[in-house]
Amino acid sequence: MIQVKSVSWPKGNTDIQTHHSVGVRSRRSLEDYLCYMPMNTLLAAVEAGAKEMTRFFNGTFTVTNKEGINNLVTEADHAAEKAIIEVIKNNFPSHFILSEETGELVSDSDFKWIVDPIDGTVNFAHGIPLCCVSIGLEKEEKMIMGAVYNPFINELYVAEKGKGATLNGKPIHVSKQTNVLNSCLVTGFPYVYLETPNGPLQVFEKLIKLGIPVRRLGSAAMDLCWVAAGRFDGFFEHHLQPWDSSAGFLIVEEAGGKVTDYAGNHYSPYQPHLLATNGLIHEQLRSYLI
Ligand code: IPD
Ligand code: CA
Ligand code: CA
Repeated sequence: MIQVKSVSWPKGNTDIQTHHSVGVRSRRSLEDYLCYMPMNTLLAAVEAGAKEMTRFFNGTFTVTNKEGINNLVTEADHAAEKAIIEVIKNNFPSHFILSEETGELVSDSDFKWIVDPIDGTVNFAHGIPLCCVSIGLEKEEKMIMGAVYNPFINELYVAEKGKGATLNGKPIHVSKQTNVLNSCLVTGFPYVYLETPNGPLQVFEKLIKLGIPVRRLGSAAMDLCWVAAGRFDGFFEHHLQPWDSSAGFLIVEEAGGKVTDYAGNHYSPYQPHLLATNGLIHEQLRSYLI
């Protein structure tokens, strides 16, 4: 179980100092009170989603196809989404929710929860433990919190705007690599082939021809978190949706990294292109994308 272990009493809903750990639960009454705060709801929501993922993983579940070939959705995606939405609704019934499989639960609220119940569904469906729950929270159209939780490798990434990023409660930082030629990169490919100049395969080919290792994990949220943790020096993808990147891009920024679109503008999850790096190789890598 994910728990907020030590908390300085809140001055405002988002003004909390938290230390996140996975495994223990105590201090029931404090926890009950804190359930009404966004960070606690965020952690309870990723935990609820991860519980459903774990329940179905490597078991029997129905799989159906969405647009494109092998764009899968499983029974577990729906179960995780239902559990996550229930947690958010129980704590913040008036908040807007945008969730991959359900769509928009529209509300006139400054707060918007952006949910990917399982990022890396194809991995999940094949029993590959590179998949996670990803949830971001926007306030007045700015991302203020994000959490990504992979229960299979026991990694919980959390970020709060201006307060840094953590992996299982410990601060994380992007890498210090300054040369793109010595970098280790990661990318992803859309479910439907993109017939655009300088598309995903062309960029991939350019980088591979230069001898740069470019991995493909199959979970954009994990890709972003692994940039934040300094494992990858950069990640780019040509066609992402808000739920793929909303939590992860804040986690990269709070770990000291840089996230933009391909033109170098500050990143918005409502457009498709994402380039996330340690900041130091950003312009070098961007030159191969345009
Ligand atoms: C997908 C994954 C994948 C990325 C795709 C996404 P899903 O999300 O993040 O890595 O390449 O663009 O759609 O479908 O597993 O939630
Ligand atoms: Ca996704
Ligand atoms: Ca998904």
